[in-house]
Amino acid sequence: MNEQKMPALKIGVLASGRGSNFQAILDAIGKGKLHAEIAVLITDNPSAFAIERARKHHIEYLVVHPADYASREEYFRNVAEELRTRNAGLIVLAGFMRIVGKALIDAFPNRIMNIHPALLPSFPGLHGQKQALEYGVRISGCTVHFVDEGMDTGPIIIQAAVPVVQEDTEDTLSARILELEHKIYPEAIRLFAEGRIDVHGRTVQIKDYPNIQSFFTNPPLDI
Ligand code: GAR
Repeated sequence: MNEQKMPALKIGVLASGRGSNFQAILDAIGKGKLHAEIAVLITDNPSAFAIERARKHHIEYLVVHPADYASREEYFRNVAEELRTRNAGLIVLAGFMRIVGKALIDAFPNRIMNIHPALLPSFPGLHGQKQALEYGVRISGCTVHFVDEGMDTGPIIIQAAVPVVQEDTEDTLSARILELEHKIYPEAIRLFAEGRIDVHGRTVQIKDYPNIQSFFTNPPLDI
């Protein structure tokens, strides 16, 4: 079937903050690079800037606050129900700062993606960029992966690498990584929308994907 004739992938976005990755996805859809639509934005933070982005694009948003639920599981059961009601085919965590509960993972097996600002499995959890700087790695980057019950542990879909330079601060490294986050997240979603991702246990196979032929070292080789 011609790709454009397939129904658009319905995406449910979960975000807690400024939502620049959410915006990158909206932009890819707007430019016709990604055949998808945002079914709903769900946030746990009533002052998340992601809400402004949803409003601007006339996208439905829900503020679903954990404090309004008896337990974490009940909270995620409710989130799953909201997503199911809207026929979401993929859930995208875009700066959603909570560990996803089992009820949501079980409702969307291998259909929840997350982006993390480090080369997993290094530096999971909060402040991946700061952890990388403090450890002293020369290369860091970002990772899009499927979500399982661990913290940033699920099968990896795409990674992008950037050099860490000696003058870097957390802010400069974060900015360098974020630029690539905005490229790899829409790309991972595109591969999913095109049915090109197969998950085998921990590993992900991408259909019809060219093998990369280049590498870089940091510092660059001088011999
Ligand atoms: C991004 O850098 C994302 O990788 C990170 O939060 C930021 C959200 O920015 N996520 C995590 O650290 C998850 N462990 P955004 O709201 O502008 O997309």
